[in-house]
Amino acid sequence: MKLNRKDILGIQELSVEEINLILETADSFIEVSTREIKKVPTLRGKTVINLFYEASTRTRTSFEIAGKRLGADTINISASTSSVVKGETLIDTARNLEAMNPDVIVIRHAAAGAPHMLAGLLRQSIINAGDGAHEHPTQALLDLMTIRAKKGGIAGLKVAIVGDIAHSRVARSNIHGLTKMGAAVIVAGPATMIPRGIEKMGVVVHTQIEEAIREADIIMMLRIQTEREQQNIFPSLREYAQYFSLNRGNIGLARKDVLIMHPGPMNRGVEISPDIADGPHSIILDQVTNGVAVRMALLYLLTGGVS
Ligand code: CP
Repeated sequence: MKLNRKDILGIQELSVEEINLILETADSFIEVSTREIKKVPTLRGKTVINLFYEASTRTRTSFEIAGKRLGADTINISASTSSVVKGETLIDTARNLEAMNPDVIVIRHAAAGAPHMLAGLLRQSIINAGDGAHEHPTQALLDLMTIRAKKGGIAGLKVAIVGDIAHSRVARSNIHGLTKMGAAVIVAGPATMIPRGIEKMGVVVHTQIEEAIREADIIMMLRIQTEREQQNIFPSLREYAQYFSLNRGNIGLARKDVLIMHPGPMNRGVEISPDIADGPHSIILDQVTNGVAVRMALLYLLTGGVS
C-alpha cells in the first residue's frame, strides 16, 4: 500500500488506514536498528533537511538517524546558527532550501501552522516536527506504535494524559490519534491548563490526577510548557508537584499493569518522580527507540515507498 499524501502535517487529517499503514511500516523498520551495520540503501540519493526553529533532542536526532539508516543524505539546520539570525524570513529560508532540491523538509517551528504554510508553497514533502501548541504528529505516531507493541492493540484501552494540556501539541496529536484508534482518553491538569471545550475532541476531563489515573492502562505525563505560557498559570512548581505529580503515592490507583509514558524532556520531581520515571512500569525509552522507526517509515512512505 502507498501513502497517498505529499506531507505529514497532523494526526487530525490522517485516516485510521493511514495510521495503520505508518505503524506497520515502522514495525518493519525496527529490525534495521538492531543490526550491526544499521543501514539499508532504500533512500540512497534522497536528501532530507531538518529545519528546526525550536530546541530539540529526540525529534531532530531521530529524524537524522532515520534518514541516515535509510541511506539518505541528512542536513540539520538550527535557526540559531542560520541566516534567520540576520533577519531572513521563514518563506525566504524555505525558498532557498527548495532551490537546492531536497526531497523532504522536516520543520519544527513555534508558530502553529508554519509547516502547513510551507506545504502549500514548496514542491517538497513537509513533515511537521512540532508547530507551536498545535500538533506533533510524529510523537503521537511513535506513542501509538509503543502502546500497540506493549499492549497488543489500542482499542478499548483507558489512557490518562496529565499535565499542561492547553499548551501541549503532544496532547492534541495524541488525543486525535488515540480516539481515532478506539482508546478512551481522560485528560487532567489544573483548570488553567485545560483548554475550554476540549471535551469536543472526545475526551473526559478531570482536574485531579487521582480521578484521571484510576484504573488507567496507560498514563502519559506531560511537562509544563513554560515557553508557551503568557502568564504564570500555577502558583509554584512545588505546589504543582504536590497536586499533579505521578509518584509512588498515587500510581497504585491505576491498573497493576499500567504503562507510564512521557514524550520528554522530563522535569523529574515536578510532573513525575524519578522512581516512577525509571521504574518497572516506565516505557519512556521504548518511545524514543520507536521514534527512529516511525520517522524511517514516514521518510520511506513520503518518498514513494510501498508497504
Ligand atoms: N518529544 C520531543 O519532541 O522531544 P524533543 O523536544 O527533544 O524533540
